[in-house]
Parts: sequence; structure tokens; C-alpha cells
Amino acid sequence: MDMDSVYQYLGFQAQTSDDSESSRVNLWLYGVATSVVLWTIGWLYRDSLEIEDINQKHVFVTGCDSGFGNLLCKRLDRRGFRVIAGCLTEKGADDLKRATGPYLKTVLLDVTSTASIQKAMDWTKQEVGEKGLWGLVNNAGRSLPMGPSEWMKLEDFNSTLKVNMTGVIEMTLTFLPLIKQAQGRIVNVASVLGRVAANGGGYCISKFAVESFSDCLRRDIHYFGIKVCIIEPGFFKTAVTSLDPIERELHRLWNQLTPEVKASYGDKYLDNYIQIQRLIMNAVCDSDLSKVTNCMEHALISAYPRTRYSAGWDAKFGWIPLSYMPSCVIDIGLKLDLRRMTYNYPPPPWCSSTPGPETDDVQLPPSPSVFI
Ligand SMILES: NC(=O)c1ccc[n+]([C@@H]2O[C@H](COP(=O)([O-])OP(=O)(O)OC[C@H]3O[C@@H](n4cnc5c(N)ncnc54)[C@H](OP(=O)(O)O)[C@@H]3O)[C@@H](O)[C@H]2O)c1
Repeated sequence: MDMDSVYQYLGFQAQTSDDSESSRVNLWLYGVATSVVLWTIGWLYRDSLEIEDINQKHVFVTGCDSGFGNLLCKRLDRRGFRVIAGCLTEKGADDLKRATGPYLKTVLLDVTSTASIQKAMDWTKQEVGEKGLWGLVNNAGRSLPMGPSEWMKLEDFNSTLKVNMTGVIEMTLTFLPLIKQAQGRIVNVASVLGRVAANGGGYCISKFAVESFSDCLRRDIHYFGIKVCIIEPGFFKTAVTSLDPIERELHRLWNQLTPEVKASYGDKYLDNYIQIQRLIMNAVCDSDLSKVTNCMEHALISAYPRTRYSAGWDAKFGWIPLSYMPSCVIDIGLKLDLRRMTYNYPPPPWCSSTPGPETDDVQLPPSPSVFI
């Protein structure tokens, strides 16, 4: 059967060579469109398939005192999972226990302490028995201090890296035998700031580390049937993005600078930095934490979990596309910010007892900036 017969069979008329050419193009287009639609339907179907026997499966979550970890535990508990919630404080553990059912267990865990991790592992081993651990969610994290790199000392970097990077690695290596037993999943909470480095301090570095550790681990242990998923949330209203502690830390960093370094930035830099940061954070932070916990739940429940989940509209349509762009795009955005920081803005009306007319006229320009 030649091509012209195929076209005629499909309802095309292959009379002239021009017609025949355009029919051929149309056929290709229909073919591609049909393949895309079929692939999408297949992908959605596969993505919706769930595992069985949820109430026989144990999941360990770190950093459950507040934020995403806290909400995730409540939701997994409601779904029927056997949840083991690692809390940093007794109060956090007691509050969570009061808000959940009898099957949720809490354990005190500081991910910066090897002894604490080992103790949690020994306790969990007893708890899960022969079944092993289905899920480990490395969620615990801290963001402070965050600010210009030059303002930090080495210990400022280390305090964040110890929780967000070393904590994730040590938790994973310690609990891996239990995960292997259950052929389960490891869910690591990174961030869009693990895709776009927009802030000084240990936070972005730690989240880039979580991304690369998770990629290496996934490739290394795929052989054992273990899945490794990465959650990349955008900006959400939690303790990590709370402005008061972030600003307190910025003041602390500023106060530890020498007079020469302070002079090189100018006396308005810190105030402008804080003002612009407030503007951006108030604009971008989403209060619907379920956008993140839905991704975590999918990673634990889906028969075919995804490798990466980007949570939040700012992540999907802002940060992730931005991460594929040339570095100069972000560099230019930050350069515009820097110009604003060094500009001598008059104080805002609420800081001045006698606001003059020029104070009322001046407004901060809308910022395309990219930092937390
Ligand atoms: N919020 C966002 O916009 C955002 C965006 C991207 C990624 N993330 C990531 O999401 C994860 C959860 O953060 P969150 O936003 O839900 O903030 P959060 O409410 O502060 O949650 C972090 C949890 O980690 C705990 N924690 C801190 N240090 C710990 C340690 N050494 N050992 C064990 N637990 C420790 C905290 O306990 P305490 O409350 O007792 O300090 C808290 O419960 C973090 O990894 C964060 O980096 C957040």
C-alpha cells in the first residue's frame, strides 16, 4: 500500500503534488497531536495509581513541631498510615499527639545529633519490626541566618548546613536499612532555593546539596526498588519565612561587622534591605501549606511517585522556569535590587515623627527581585 492510498483511506485527497504535500504535513500533525493526547492520558492514569495496605505501612517524618511536617503527620494519620513523628521539642510532640489519633507515635529527634538519630532509629526498628519502614520524610530545616554572604562567619553557614544538609544525609544513611527492608521511599524536602541561589548564607547551599544528594542516592539505590523523591516548595508562610527572626538575625549580622565593612555598604543599606525583603515576602508567601503536603502525600502513596514535585504557583511558574534561564537573568534582577539598597530613601512615615512632604511622595518601586 503506497502513501497516497493511506491518505485516501484517511479521507485526504492526494490530487496535486501541493495537495499531497500539505496532506502529508497534516497527517504528521494529527499523528503528533494524537500521540501527545494518548501520552498525557496514560501519564495521568499512571500518576493516579495508589499503593495498597496503607494501614500496614510506617512513615517517619522529621521536624514535626510545626509547618509542613506537622500538617503532613496529621494528614497521613487521617489516611491510616502508622506515623512516627520526629519532634525537636517535648511541647511540639505533646501538641501533635493531642491533635492526632492513637496510632501516631512521637519521638524526640535533633537531626544535628548522631546520638539522637541513632536513638530514634533503634526505637523505630522495634516499632516497625519485620515490615521495615515504608517512608522517611526528611523535612526538618532552618533558614537562619540569611543575608549577604560577606556578613556571615563560618559558624553562621554551619548552623544551617548542620540541620538541612548533614542532618538529611545522616538521617538517610541511618534509616536506609529499614527502608530497604520495606522497599520504601525517601522524600527529601529541598526548596526552589535549591534551584536558584538567591540568598547568602547556608540555606541555598544546603538546599542545592539536598538536590544533588537525592539525585545521587536515587541512582545508587534504584536497584533495591527504593524511590527517592524531591519536594521543591516555593515560598509559604511558616516559621522558616517568618520576618521577625529573619530581621533580628540581619541586625545581629550587621552588628558583628567592622566599621570599615559597614561603611562600604552605607548607612541605609540594612534598612533598605529589610524594607525590600518585607515587600517581597509579604507579596509571595502562600498560606496554603496543603499545596506542599499534597506533594509529600503523593510521593508516599502513589504507585509511581514522581522524582521532583514543585509546590506552589510561584515555584511552578516563577522559580523553576527561572532556574532554566541563563544566570545573567537572575544576576540582573539582583543588580537592580542592590541599586535600591544603596539608594538613600527617606525614612517611612511610621519611623519619623515629622514626615515632610518629600517623604510622602517617595514610594519603593515594584521589585522584580529574587530573594527571600
Ligand atoms: N516555608 C517555606 O517557604 C519553605 C520553602 C521551601 C522549603 N522549605 C523547607 O520545608 C521544610 C519545613 O519547613 P517549614 O517551612 O515547615 O518551617 P518550620 O515550621 O520551621 O518547620 C521546620 C521544622 O524543623 C524543626 N527543626 C529545626 N531544627 C531541627 C533539628 N535540629 N532537628 C530536628 N528538627 C528541627 C523545627 O522545629 P522547631 O519549630 O522546634 O524549631 C520545625 O518543626 C524545611 O526543610 C524548609 O527548609 C520551606
